Amino acid sequence: MATYDLVVIGTGPGGYVCAVRAAQLGMKVAVVEKNATLGGTCLNVGCMPSKALLHASEMFEEAAHSFAKMGVSVSAPKLDLPSMMNFKQQGIDGNVKGVEFLMKKNKIDVLYGAGKILGAGKVEISGNGKSQTVDTKNIVIATGSDIARLKGIEIDEKRIVSSTGALSLERVPEKLLVIGAGVIGLELGSVWKRLGAEVMVVEFLDRILPGMDGEVAKQFQRILEKQGFAFKLGAKVTAVDASGKTLKATVEPAAGGTAATIETDVVLVCIGRVPYTDGLGCKEAGIALDNRGRVQIDAHFSTSVKGVYAIGDVVAGPMLAHKAEDEGVACAEIIAGQAGHVNYDVIPGVVYTTPEVSSVGKTEEELKQAGVAYTSGKFPFTANGRSKVNQTTDGFVKILADAKTDRVLGVHIVGREAGEMIHEAAVLMEFGGSAEDLARTCHAHPTRSEAIKEAALAVGKRAIHM
Ligand code: FAD
Ligand code: NAI
Repeated sequence: MATYDLVVIGTGPGGYVCAVRAAQLGMKVAVVEKNATLGGTCLNVGCMPSKALLHASEMFEEAAHSFAKMGVSVSAPKLDLPSMMNFKQQGIDGNVKGVEFLMKKNKIDVLYGAGKILGAGKVEISGNGKSQTVDTKNIVIATGSDIARLKGIEIDEKRIVSSTGALSLERVPEKLLVIGAGVIGLELGSVWKRLGAEVMVVEFLDRILPGMDGEVAKQFQRILEKQGFAFKLGAKVTAVDASGKTLKATVEPAAGGTAATIETDVVLVCIGRVPYTDGLGCKEAGIALDNRGRVQIDAHFSTSVKGVYAIGDVVAGPMLAHKAEDEGVACAEIIAGQAGHVNYDVIPGVVYTTPEVSSVGKTEEELKQAGVAYTSGKFPFTANGRSKVNQTTDGFVKILADAKTDRVLGVHIVGREAGEMIHEAAVLMEFGGSAEDLARTCHAHPTRSEAIKEAALAVGKRAIHM
């Protein structure tokens, strides 16, 4: 029987990164994966395919609507959806091969099959009618998450789809009804909107992107409406009748009341994700789950069973690939006897639409609720030279700083490339920096990042270009 220092169950960004770090630290490591390919949700049906389609559909839209105003004359672009899907698949394959390479490079054994924890130190792997058991000093659960379902609405991944089906539609729907104005709804809604679908988003709450700064969400909603998105906030879909040629969705006010029917071609259900522990054997092995089905861990990723750890989407916290990766690194370091650590106060979040939305640290709502005295500096891209010449002026940068100490507590950006721009704020916050530190840092001209410097200057009421 094979014996390891560490067996990681699941090869998403949490699992494979944890395995690589553990191997770097000298451990003999195996990963277990029940899918045919490595990389988990993120590489196969999440972050990466969605970003490929966001990029391709943005290029399509730019060619159709933005080239002419820059004096680039092309004939109207034609959509070749199978080729676009092929572009997406090439991206997936490239990244999956990259993970395979990393496993080989770090001498990590890849055991294909479903992993079941038989108890501390024992993992059974079964698949293709075969089963084997391996011994290991440590186990890391990195089994990720699955789509949350809506009672009474059956996902067929053809007409009523989750994000997985929405990444592989065979044709552009005339009408797309999105349930949930969260990250998936707005990203994948954007893809199909750009390719020609009429998109209506039904959201239970009275705002989009819950969790993001309220002012940011409000302005972003207006930008999306300008692009043609329709929103029905404070509403819920209670049923979808799939018996006819078109789907008929029953929509009610969130608090209940008179129902309306919306006809559509495709319904995308994206109301969140749930931790995935099916078949893992947690109950039998005595591994405690919390009241939301997440594997319970302490501050060192340790579960209720000694030698068994858990990271990523299957534990509490934001369901983000980079959070899973950082937990993977910290967990491997802790297993190796080092002081691995994740700073949960500085985890950036990005919505990869056009424009993008990015955020790190506290929102205004969170600061108000916590009774923290803060000052705010805001700078719009309409006043940023580079954005003006490129005619991409939607959005703004907002910096929230402690009123007494000037320490930056949160940064929120709506605007092109906001996802790349957020990281200087993250680094600053990791070092406990102030708005004054940002304001006195020389920023290259002309860049969109100058808007961050100006927002920092605006905290001290001395922005130059406003
Ligand atoms: P996963 O990536 O879910 O990997 C878990 C792996 O474990 C899977 O491969 C699964 O097959 C395997 N597994 C499960 N049970 C077993 C078992 N018993 N035995 C063997 N293997 C098992 N996050 C971002 O940060 N940025 C984005 O842009 C982004 N875009 C997204 C877009 C979409 C459409 C979706 C759905 C998600 C997106 N996410 C994004 C979220 C991101 O995908 C997750 O946060 C991330 O994948 C979590 O990583 P993980 O390693 O915890 O789990
Ligand atoms: P989400 O949590 O972002 O949004 C779900 C939305 O659905 C919320 O606004 C919620 O209020 C709403 N909702 C819930 N029940 C509803 C109902 N019955 N009717 C109408 N609306 C309802 O979840 P989403 O978009 O499914 O994404 C899942 C997770 O995947 C995200 O939490 C995120 O962590 C991750 N993800 C991250 C991305 C990124 O980082 N760019 C991209 C895509 C996904």
